[in-house]
Amino acid sequence: MELYEAMHTTAAIREFTGEPLPDEVLHRILDNARFAPSGGNRQGVRLVLVTERETRERLADLVAPGARRYAAQGKAGETPWNPVAPTALSAEQIAATRVPGFFVDPFLTAAVLVVVLVDLSTLAATDQELERIGLVSGASVYPLVWNLLLAARAEGFGGVVNTMAVPAEPAVLDLLGAPANHALACVVPLGKPVKQPTRLRRQPVESFVTRERYNGEAFTLDPE
Ligand SMILES: Cc1cc2nc3c(=O)[nH]c(=O)nc-3n(C[C@H](O)[C@H](O)[C@H](O)COP(=O)(O)O)c2cc1C
Repeated sequence: MELYEAMHTTAAIREFTGEPLPDEVLHRILDNARFAPSGGNRQGVRLVLVTERETRERLADLVAPGARRYAAQGKAGETPWNPVAPTALSAEQIAATRVPGFFVDPFLTAAVLVVVLVDLSTLAATDQELERIGLVSGASVYPLVWNLLLAARAEGFGGVVNTMAVPAEPAVLDLLGAPANHALACVVPLGKPVKQPTRLRRQPVESFVTRERYNGEAFTLDPE
């Protein structure tokens, strides 16, 4: 598949046909995804491939609290899990919210769950002394995750970045026997898509790219 076509059509896939993802194809996907960059080329990502029913169910349980809060905040008009605008909802309001199936079902229906961990001792977090939430560490992890999704697309498969188990990170590390100096970045359910979207809704270049200053002229090829 041509690179730009893959970039335009790698959608979040949450519904799977139940077809298996053969190890040979999964290995090829990973063997291409591994060329992603990481800070200092330290390559601290560790992936755990989960197919066993019991582990899937446990992970699905661990996703529920994070997903419940996401759904409750969304319903209340808040930006879910936003780090600069904390929720105004009470624990009771959150507890009364139903967990939407699309957060949890992929854990049970995907051909395989790719649990994405990173060895914290490999990271160079240049934003660690700023008074805001850390961003830079993720940049040594998520390029590989995105490569994984692009490669899956090229092979006729798909998946989604799911971060809802991250609030339950200690329990996930324990479940998988991962060392404590590791962090959970996301879980990616992978499988054969029921539907393959071909038109993704994204902002045009000129709406988020400017010249020289944040409030500078929008970057467009045909200025007014
Ligand atoms: C950092 C990140 C976290 C995400 N977390 C979740 C998640 O927990 N559950 C989920 O279903 N989708 C999750 N998504 C998928 C996004 O909702 C999806 O990429 C976005 O809505 C665009 O969807 P589209 O490509 O189908 O247009 C996440 C995506 C990213 C990049």
